Amino acid sequence: MPKLSQRLSIVALLFSLLSAPLSTAIAADFKREVIYQIITDRFFDGSSSNNNPSQSSGLYDATKTNWRAYWGGDLAGIQQKMSYLAGMGVTAIWISPPVDNLNTNIPDGGGNPTASYHGYQGRDFKRIEEHFGNSSNSWTDFDNLVAAAHQNGIKVIVDFAPNHSTQNNAGEFGSLYDNGSFLGNFTNDTNGYFHHNPNISGSGWDDRYQVQYYTLFDLADVNQTHPTMDAYMKAAAQLFQQHGVDGFRIDAVKHLNWGWQYTLANSIYTFGDSFLFGEWFQGNTSDPLYADSYKFANKSGISLLDFPLNTAIRNVFGSSNTNFSDIDSVISQEGTNFTWKEDLVTFIDNHDMARFLSINNNNNRLHEAMAFTLTSRGIPCMYYGTEQYLHNDTSGGTDPYNRPMMTNFSTSTTAYQLVNKLSTLRRNNTAIPYGSMGQRWINNDVYIYERKFFGNVVLVAINKNETSSYSISGLNTSLPAGSYSDYLNGLLGGLAINVNSGSGGNNPVSNFTLPAHTVSVWQFTEGAASPQIGSIGPTNGQPGVKTVVAGKNFGSATGTVKFGTTTATVNSWSSTQITVTTPSVTNGSYNVTVTNSGGQVSNTIQFTVLTAKLIPITFTVNNATPTQVGDYIFLTGNTVELGNWSSTWQGAFGPMLTPNYPNWFIVAGVPAGQTIQFKFIKIAANGAVTWEAGSNHTYTVPTSGTGFVNVNWQY
Ligand code: NOJ
Ligand code: NOJ
Repeated sequence: MPKLSQRLSIVALLFSLLSAPLSTAIAADFKREVIYQIITDRFFDGSSSNNNPSQSSGLYDATKTNWRAYWGGDLAGIQQKMSYLAGMGVTAIWISPPVDNLNTNIPDGGGNPTASYHGYQGRDFKRIEEHFGNSSNSWTDFDNLVAAAHQNGIKVIVDFAPNHSTQNNAGEFGSLYDNGSFLGNFTNDTNGYFHHNPNISGSGWDDRYQVQYYTLFDLADVNQTHPTMDAYMKAAAQLFQQHGVDGFRIDAVKHLNWGWQYTLANSIYTFGDSFLFGEWFQGNTSDPLYADSYKFANKSGISLLDFPLNTAIRNVFGSSNTNFSDIDSVISQEGTNFTWKEDLVTFIDNHDMARFLSINNNNNRLHEAMAFTLTSRGIPCMYYGTEQYLHNDTSGGTDPYNRPMMTNFSTSTTAYQLVNKLSTLRRNNTAIPYGSMGQRWINNDVYIYERKFFGNVVLVAINKNETSSYSISGLNTSLPAGSYSDYLNGLLGGLAINVNSGSGGNNPVSNFTLPAHTVSVWQFTEGAASPQIGSIGPTNGQPGVKTVVAGKNFGSATGTVKFGTTTATVNSWSSTQITVTTPSVTNGSYNVTVTNSGGQVSNTIQFTVLTAKLIPITFTVNNATPTQVGDYIFLTGNTVELGNWSSTWQGAFGPMLTPNYPNWFIVAGVPAGQTIQFKFIKIAANGAVTWEAGSNHTYTVPTSGTGFVNVNWQY
């Protein structure tokens, strides 16, 4: 038996191993990363010992003919392919949900076994799935993967799916476990851990109440405002942070409680540095909930996967009769709506849609779509196998045929080389991660666009026509006068150009001919300049929360960072990244600036200082003032979390939901321990605002857990 002091130090050592993040790499700015999306089961089988684990035996198909069974890919397999990924220029991997999943087979309509090989039926969010790790559901293989990734300069993003547990009407009937202890299930839900509403269907997909509170595809819908579920999901996310993950892809954010997610994000950022982006599925910017999606991205601290741009990319590169104007208009529309548009995660395809080559089996077009995604606004995410031209076209290549097993790991494909080159450019030229995006020349088949961040410029020319070249005249650029060779060295048939001097950032390019199916990339980086901020992350936080300011020319000597006029404490400083602590200033929106040690001041970037840690509170107002179709009730109040008495659609909290008209409710994240003042307002379809009468309501927010407020509209 060791002495007490030794035992204590062993305990302390174990505790520090458990709680210390495995990497000190800063994750908050992902704009310089290239993400690679992996379905763990379908990537690489690194260990056969976990293929058919005893607690869930029979879910594995060694013949790989049942597309809805486990096929053997695991965390060890990803780890073994780390140098393949690093060699491609991948700097972050997003892995499918690694948590312990449904243990049983649920036969499909044809009696064929199905399994949760994709990871979206979690049963224990605090343990690792035995098919991906080991039969004790321990974190060992996960920790090894994270360590190997970090050693290779690769960040790890976990797919996190707290909207639901397992299927509610079969298998394990939604059963949830907390690190092995049974919490509850859907069928005997005495605690109210789940919502018991029908499946979302029909017009319900566009209804704010149904998308959040109804059931997604029979999956037991977790009630995150139950204090036990709230604490469980937040603790699970934190456990992943303790195990070193750098970010989360949050599944189905449109179907999770929107307000609760503000508090999830706040809980993650309060614990530590992270990058969050969510899956808000929508076809285009005319979607009925599009304005809700950008309000969510602008306020919650959670960025989004860029589905509208995805649709345009698939249409423009996937067909010959969709014009580049489709892409151009999405970029400009989103540019006006999203405050932190460079944080949107862009993609060509994913595990929920046919692979690009299944919709257009043309490698040129795939390369063009890849080059576009890797150089345009947003953080690019490549779906596994894209670089090997992986696709299976059964049933049009849709789920599950968009999830084949990786078979080749060649490092010499054009696509593999392309990712590598453009990943390097993203690291070396700030115009790609942080720059504006402007169209310089366009026709149906040609798109020439410019990325620009202060004096750094990247100009990209794509001709997607398979046979026709185009004469390009009248092209202007911000590239300084000079000649520019193709940064891709002709990998996609690109050429050199000559730029002549002009004025006002419009330097004329000598006329040239853009050959069929080519991509050219020309770039310029400026010399010494003042500090330039391109990023802040997270974009909100209460005093004490750390945020990362990233950009260029901060200098090696420590200078100062100000929130408005208040100087913040600097925790780390490099010429491209500074970590600061949010100062104790009045809640609200602040312009953040960097001053280098020589006194030069940067541009500003916006950050919202919250009042305190966010607690999810359900606000109900009964018998509200009458509304017509298109009118909504909103919540507004005296802190930034409630919009600081804003009465605009984007500024107040809402729209509220009305399953029991004329009573309305909404979950909002409000500051812990604070006494808040609030009122309800009607914002009519025409924008007219009606305030409820009387004095403000007041409420003291609990310091932890969740809470409920229930008042009558004051006439
Ligand atoms: C979206 C995921 O991407 C999809 O694959 C999954 O089935 C659903 N959410 C439910 O988790
Ligand atoms: C905030 C006030 O406190 C509230 O009572 C009032 O109704 C609105 N502003 C409208 O001005």
